[in-house]
Amino acid sequence: MTDAVIFDSHAHYDDASFAADRDQLLGDCLQQNVGYIVNVGSNLRSLTWVSYLCETYEHVYGAVGIHPDDTRFLNEVYFQRMRSLCGGEKIVAVGEIGLDYYWNASPKEVQKYWFARQMALAAEQHLPVIIHSREAAQDTFDMIMAAHLPCRGVIHCYSGSVEMALDYVNKGFLIGIGGVLTFKNGRKLKEVAAAVPLEAILLETDCPYLAPAPFRGKRNASGLIRYVAEELARIKQCSYETVLECTCRNAKRLFRIA
Ligand code: NI
Repeated sequence: MTDAVIFDSHAHYDDASFAADRDQLLGDCLQQNVGYIVNVGSNLRSLTWVSYLCETYEHVYGAVGIHPDDTRFLNEVYFQRMRSLCGGEKIVAVGEIGLDYYWNASPKEVQKYWFARQMALAAEQHLPVIIHSREAAQDTFDMIMAAHLPCRGVIHCYSGSVEMALDYVNKGFLIGIGGVLTFKNGRKLKEVAAAVPLEAILLETDCPYLAPAPFRGKRNASGLIRYVAEELARIKQCSYETVLECTCRNAKRLFRIA
């Protein structure tokens, strides 16, 4: 087969759906050709998990951040705790942060306030950002551009237009692509994947969510990125190995992993 390994740039192994077999899954990663995983923070509880998973598994790295849905629970005490966690040796990003107008679980103004604060934290800590944006494409873009982020970042599970994707790439941001690329109704994302250079793409699961076809609706895990990489190779008319090698290199560059 291949020496090229999968870099899963966005996973949530703290999720309860992994309670029964988390150790087995993360222990067996290399057998599934998974070389690197970034476990991404989402709520306050997940931040404790991020530290634990980074300490326990050599190939797991972490991101510290609060998802827009959960920003209503954020306060200064937790924000200071996040700041101290950012100094951790294997913390490679601030995320996932952004805006979610689909669920609107937190009021828009609260989402915007903590999105700006968390971007400022990333800039201060010299870390890239992992961005979540749903039904909020223009506000997200405008706020990111206003933040003047020195270390850039990735637009995770990208769902916007081709034009906006190229705008992000021209500004130095990467586009995160996962299981949606394999969906029958994923045509818009296939167009984005065709237009954006491979050097600006990261692969991701967002597991346990968004498992690729033929596992759509089931629990996702890093090994299933294979199906996303195969689809991307078809779109880019290059080899599967080239897709893995290039996206792994892109992720290592962004997250500064040697
Ligand atoms: Ni996520």
